Amino acid sequence: MNHIVNAYNRFKTPIVKGKEVYLFDKDGKKYLDFAAGISTTSLGHCHPYITDKLKEQLGSLWHCSNVFTIPEQERLAQRLTTLTCADKVFFCSSGLEATEAAIKFIRRYFYSKGQEKRNRIITIEGGFHGRSIAAISAGGNEKSREGFAPLLSGFDKVPRNDIKALEEKISNETAAVFLEPIQSEGGMYPLNVEYLQKVREITKAQEIILCFDEVQCGYGRTGSLFHYQNIEIEPDILTCAKAMGNGFPLAACLVRDYIAEAITPGTHGSTYGGNPLAMTVGNAVLDVMLKEDFFDHVKRVSQYLKEKLLNLAEEFQEVISEIRGEGLLIGIELKVPLADKIVSQSLDKGLIVTKVLNNRVVRITPPLIIEDKHVNTACGVLYDLFFKIKNT
Ligand SMILES: Cc1ncc(COP(=O)(O)O)c(C=O)c1O
Repeated sequence: MNHIVNAYNRFKTPIVKGKEVYLFDKDGKKYLDFAAGISTTSLGHCHPYITDKLKEQLGSLWHCSNVFTIPEQERLAQRLTTLTCADKVFFCSSGLEATEAAIKFIRRYFYSKGQEKRNRIITIEGGFHGRSIAAISAGGNEKSREGFAPLLSGFDKVPRNDIKALEEKISNETAAVFLEPIQSEGGMYPLNVEYLQKVREITKAQEIILCFDEVQCGYGRTGSLFHYQNIEIEPDILTCAKAMGNGFPLAACLVRDYIAEAITPGTHGSTYGGNPLAMTVGNAVLDVMLKEDFFDHVKRVSQYLKEKLLNLAEEFQEVISEIRGEGLLIGIELKVPLADKIVSQSLDKGLIVTKVLNNRVVRITPPLIIEDKHVNTACGVLYDLFFKIKNT
């Protein structure tokens, strides 16, 4: 009998071990992991350096609460603010908490300026920001909202890449624009750079906040620590999670000073956010990612993967309609809704991929440490599956 709430479609295969880019099931079968726990284990499973750092910390301190100064927290915040356009960091444990923090900080900022009526947030259709009531109210996915009414008011949705619709939606109650620069759960759609540049110009001119959700697309996945650095558009708030802890629960909401000033003791908090274990892992992840050549490797191998996938798209035009995404955040859009088949048959053949967008998109989010040989293996498996679909 199953005692777990049925919130997920799970494969029956029990996974018991992970090493580098591979997972192993209880029978010892090896899987090439091109999902990485959904863009999370970016440095591979059980990375030895990170594991050693965590083991060291496990022996000295697990938890002491944010009523104390936590040296590893100060260090990680200092590093993140040096590496980004943000001035201050709020640490939490999951992407949705980073979303919550962002929404609260936006509202609190205008409240502290005596403009509490300026509390509405514009979000983009198809965006995904987590599963809390606030996050599903902000997000554009109908399925994640169904049956959870009443949702929060205060979110205005506009179509992606439609600057006119966004301009028309801005009112004297608008506080912020909150978006994923690359919509991931929504189907692997990078927003147009020209659109994002315009959004930045407009939000600046209107003195409203621009928040980027980089929970999935950030932390190295597109070849820089954050995707905004590739496109040179700086947000006022930046959320991150997933790869930040390489599988250890860790997330953050990074903000500019002028927004952080609105947050005073008692206005927000988290028991686990910023705890010594998570902070140690966060620093260790950065140690690895900031090594010379790390991001160059991501850029190079992602280019190789994209080329191979484009070749597949060329060869199987009857099956594949588009390859899209950036870096190692790639979607293969199918002409027929068979992504679930591709996912389960890949698993049989020892390759892990996932699906999004109503069974139409196969999502490829491998660890950032993959090499060409892993790309070749994965594309070989996909080739065989597309070949079979084309010929049946
Ligand atoms: C862009 C984005 N934001 C927020 C979240 C929520 O993160 P979490 O599942 O850690 O709450 C996700 C999760 O997939 C995400 O992709």
